[in-house]
Amino acid sequence: MNDINWAQLRDAAVAAMRTAYAPYSNFPVGAAALTDDGRIVSGCNVENASYGLGLCAECSLVSQLTMTGGGKLVAFTCVDGNENTLMPCGRCRQLLFEHSAPGMILDTVSGMKTIDEVIPDAFGPRTLEAFREPVPTDPADNTQCEGCQ
Ligand code: THU
Repeated sequence: MNDINWAQLRDAAVAAMRTAYAPYSNFPVGAAALTDDGRIVSGCNVENASYGLGLCAECSLVSQLTMTGGGKLVAFTCVDGNENTLMPCGRCRQLLFEHSAPGMILDTVSGMKTIDEVIPDAFGPRTLEAFREPVPTDPADNTQCEGCQ
């Protein structure tokens, strides 16, 4: 965590926030993250006249992540229109979890937290992988069992 330039990340989040399209809520949001190969990716919220279609800042951040080379997020920060730290909404914690490096750090309203602290026991890619893994079969009677080789 010591080698993360939080001031630089915060500046990127503020710059992103200034590009927000939030005419309906008047609540601009900017998010920025450091990737595991040293890039900074950022995003702003983009609302819609069909209110429910509005995109959170984290949505455009993860889009930028995949469009600029992919990788995993190691550090994240988010700000509101007053440049105060903003907690990602529940949906966006899920979005971030999908692209997080193990132990990803978030600058939150209650201090530095890991991704596992802000979305404990998260549903994610490994949940799906575990489901798809074939259940071992007991060679004695061909029934499925836990722990049979
Ligand atoms: N918003 C974000 O961009 N990210 C969050 O994590 C919380 C909420 C946006 C969505 C909407 O455009 C505005 O904030 C007000 O809810």
